[in-house]
Amino acid sequence: MYNIDYLHLDHAQQRLLDAAAKAMETAYNPYSSFYVGAALLAQNGKIITGANVENAAYGSCICAERSALVRANAMNIRRFEKVTVIARAVDAPTSEVTAPCGGCRQMLYEAAQLSDKDLEVIMSTTKKDKIVIAKMSELLPLASGPKDLGINLAQYRGK
Ligand code: THU
Repeated sequence: MYNIDYLHLDHAQQRLLDAAAKAMETAYNPYSSFYVGAALLAQNGKIITGANVENAAYGSCICAERSALVRANAMNIRRFEKVTVIARAVDAPTSEVTAPCGGCRQMLYEAAQLSDKDLEVIMSTTKKDKIVIAKMSELLPLASGPKDLGINLAQYRGK
């Protein structure tokens, strides 16, 4: 896990973070007023974005990361290289990076299991003035996953 400046990200990372920032503005967030955007870089080169979608039954809210994963699944895309997460409050930028919640880490871990290698997770403040890069395995060590159930995911790897 390390900190990096926006200008030191490579072109693909910058593009992915910019896509997440754009998606963040589509958040449906009447309850928290917190805007979160996520962008997945699929192994086939496609970028799939998502934003948080809230609901009056609060437990039914879906985070930006899961929203992007579900959208990718609808496109039969299940293997990824990177994911970026960025957020803002309704009237203020974040001063610390926003990291995936526990539930999203679990879902991203499963996506990493389907992928050819560990997922890179790029987390940014609103103004991209603080960026942290971690591996999925660092964000969810000792994860419980398909291997614990003896499940082989080979036939579920998508496009
Ligand atoms: N949220 C995300 O979309 N992703 C995260 O990583 C953290 C939290 C959303 C859920 C909810 O809509 C709002 O942010 C406040 O928790």
